[in-house]
Amino acid sequence: MALSQFISVFRTAFESGQFLKCTLSRPAAAAPADLKNVYLRPVSLKKGVFVSFTFRYKTRDEVKNLDLQAALDYLSEWLGKGFLSADLFTSDHTYSLHFSKSGEATLTSKKTHRDTPADTSHNREKHRLIAPSAPWLHALGITNAKGEVLPTAQDKWKQINKFLEIIESLLRAHPLPPGAQIADMGSGKGYLTFALYDFLRNNLGLDIRVTGIELRQNLVDFCNKTAVSAGFSDLHFVAADINDYRPERLDVLIALHACDTATDLALAKGIHARAGIVIVAPCCHKQIRREMDAHNELAPVLRHGILEERQAEIVTDGIRALLLEANGYKTNVFEFISTEHTAKNVMITAIEAGRSTTGGQRRDEALEKVAALKSGFGIREHYLEGLLKETP
Ligand SMILES: C[S@@+](CC[C@H](N)C(=O)[O-])C[C@H]1O[C@@H](n2cnc3c(N)ncnc32)[C@H](O)[C@@H]1O
Repeated sequence: MALSQFISVFRTAFESGQFLKCTLSRPAAAAPADLKNVYLRPVSLKKGVFVSFTFRYKTRDEVKNLDLQAALDYLSEWLGKGFLSADLFTSDHTYSLHFSKSGEATLTSKKTHRDTPADTSHNREKHRLIAPSAPWLHALGITNAKGEVLPTAQDKWKQINKFLEIIESLLRAHPLPPGAQIADMGSGKGYLTFALYDFLRNNLGLDIRVTGIELRQNLVDFCNKTAVSAGFSDLHFVAADINDYRPERLDVLIALHACDTATDLALAKGIHARAGIVIVAPCCHKQIRREMDAHNELAPVLRHGILEERQAEIVTDGIRALLLEANGYKTNVFEFISTEHTAKNVMITAIEAGRSTTGGQRRDEALEKVAALKSGFGIREHYLEGLLKETP
């Protein structure tokens, strides 16, 4: 009864434009692992007003926009099962729904008055982690001379900010030691490398040194020149193949959209150096696609090129995640940014948990899963496996 009243109040508040926000808390056993709470707010998209859900996990946030009915379905399904408390804030009331341990629900309401209208903007300014007026953004062609993000650079700008949000939440789980060394492998034109440096050094005041590693000399020269003009004294770029890069110390490994097996080269460097934080957004997945010759029940569907391509991506990144786990990393694979902004949107993040926590058993289990996948998909060797067998 209390739950259906809560759902009905939510619907009315949303439909009348009075819905401001809602938080789901007290996760119960049925909630996904590491999910701490869920934060809902209205958001204006091209197709109308939706409910934006931010799923706050221990080390990351995930955002999903649902239409009203899907949002209500989610609440009906999870309240009382996944979350034992919900607080709904409308422009004139606060409603609190609580479930007791025995599953009994109570709904209370309090009259309140708030002048602030609901912020329904898709990307709220307060989520910006760097100022668009930063001169390096202009040098890199993201903003104009007035510090306004160019229409053609909107997607890049969203990607930069999302990337910084992810870094920020990973740092909460794994703070960096002083003098931390960060490498961005396959840094390209350096958008994310500059953003990372500016955010960590100038916003968070961290003592860090960032190195971009990039094959293309012209990009390296351009980035070094831009770093000097920006006064970023501990940001450097080197023209090298990731494979030949031998860092003395590596605290954070980043490789975003590094081509095909360049992601594996970077992962191997990170794992060998026992980097505390690993973040990769893989790009093309040619190695496994070439090798794949499925002998499992998926074989008949993989004769369709597009399905084979998607399956190759899943297998490639799934094995990468398992190999990270086998090597003592706590790993997450998730959508980095909506496909609306980029097609390359899967991200793998990993936090070093120490080899001992993996124990022989967990390592063996992860490696058995890799072996089973390889056998089912007719794969001889994942490129990363070979690299991990080599001495660094
Ligand atoms: C698609 S770009 C991505 C650039 C940047 N990380 C980003 O996300 O905006 C990939 C970059 O990786 C570089 N790259 C590919 N393989 C590499 C390797 N083995 N060593 C160093 N750089 C590499 C390419 O030259 C290219 O600039």
